[in-house]
Amino acid sequence: MKFERTILITGGAGFIGSHVVRLFVNKYPNYRIVNLDALTYAGNLENLRDVEDAANYTFERGDITDDGFINNLFEQYQFNGVIHLAAESHVDRSISDPMSFIKTNIVGTVNLLNAARQTWKNTEGGRFHHVSTDEVYGSLGDEGFFTETTPYDPRSPYSASKASSDHLVNAYYHTYNLPIVISNCSNNYGPNHFPEKLIPLIINNILKNKALPIYGDGKYTRDWLWVKDHASAIDTIFHNGRVGESYNIGGNNEWKNIDLVHKLCDIMDEKLERPQGTARELITFVKDRPGHDRRYAIDASKLMNELGWTPSVKFEEGFRETVDWYLANKTWVDNVTSGAYQQYYENQYA
Ligand code: NAD
Ligand code: TYD
Repeated sequence: MKFERTILITGGAGFIGSHVVRLFVNKYPNYRIVNLDALTYAGNLENLRDVEDAANYTFERGDITDDGFINNLFEQYQFNGVIHLAAESHVDRSISDPMSFIKTNIVGTVNLLNAARQTWKNTEGGRFHHVSTDEVYGSLGDEGFFTETTPYDPRSPYSASKASSDHLVNAYYHTYNLPIVISNCSNNYGPNHFPEKLIPLIINNILKNKALPIYGDGKYTRDWLWVKDHASAIDTIFHNGRVGESYNIGGNNEWKNIDLVHKLCDIMDEKLERPQGTARELITFVKDRPGHDRRYAIDASKLMNELGWTPSVKFEEGFRETVDWYLANKTWVDNVTSGAYQQYYENQYA
């Protein structure tokens, strides 16, 4: 079959990547979608069972830090689009092991930029969409929002590695004219979120009757977006975003951690048909995360006004769907939390 485009999606076995792969495979049968993933602790092909037999889908296992492998892959497929999500993504892990973040998030990104540059040097085609985070902007006080012109001020090894990669992607645009676009999104929630991150960790701990660890005073604020809305924003920006530009993605949905956890506890009590207040008793305030960013909040008006994207799912709806998904997929949680992750988890919260 002749495909109109061949698109590389990196990190497609992870949380957000799997939703992006599913959207593209189903929505664009005329695109060949190649999912490249190293299958680290965070990557799980179970996330993609429903699309793995699609005629326009191929999985390649490999590491973006391996430049020889990346160059061969570009030579083999002659990609004309890249959506780059592969990354080490958990702030707490970046505090205990910064180097793996430097390797994957910075060196891995440069390997992909070099291969794209080599492949597209004599052509008009090509688009490199770098998926990044709002954490590159640092931390907000009680007021204000991150816009695309907010100066970068990363505070954790994770956000510093993502900021570095954003700068390098921009540098390849200015220096080599590589057709890039960058998106910076707020915190995502939804199915397949690895249970080391706040929302799935709390759901899983309530199910297992374990303590619910709240860092510091619990008044840290995050701006939560339904993961499928992030995937639809990536679709919009990949196709219609202006080359060389950055777009913030967010759903205008701020929550203090403690309020979010209270809400989750109450929904879980309701679903598990037990007295309200039962899950809240598991809440335990623990030592704060070093360098913990106080507040994130996104102004997504550029994306909304220029490209017409809007989030489709109300938080109440997405949040309940997320809880239902975790209740229906306890085996998934047990599978991904065994093995390498399990050991990490035991060390963290022993
Ligand atoms: P994730 O940790 O769930 O998935 C990352 C994926 O990348 C995994 O499948 C993993 O196997 C793969 N990977 C890691 N190292 C690799 C390597 N060296 N080579 C190839 N594959 C490798 O992460 P996520 O939450 O889905 O985040 C995806 C992207 O979106 C990241 O770039 C992250 O910075 C960005 N982002 C995440 C959020 C969020 O709330 N989770 C918000 C904004 C932006
Ligand atoms: P997290 O899901 O790790 O995302 P990020 O740090 O990238 O925003 O954490 C979300 C918020 O929840 C953050 O303020 C840290 C806090 N948190 C806890 O209070 N307890 C936990 O066990 C975890 C994992 C996070």
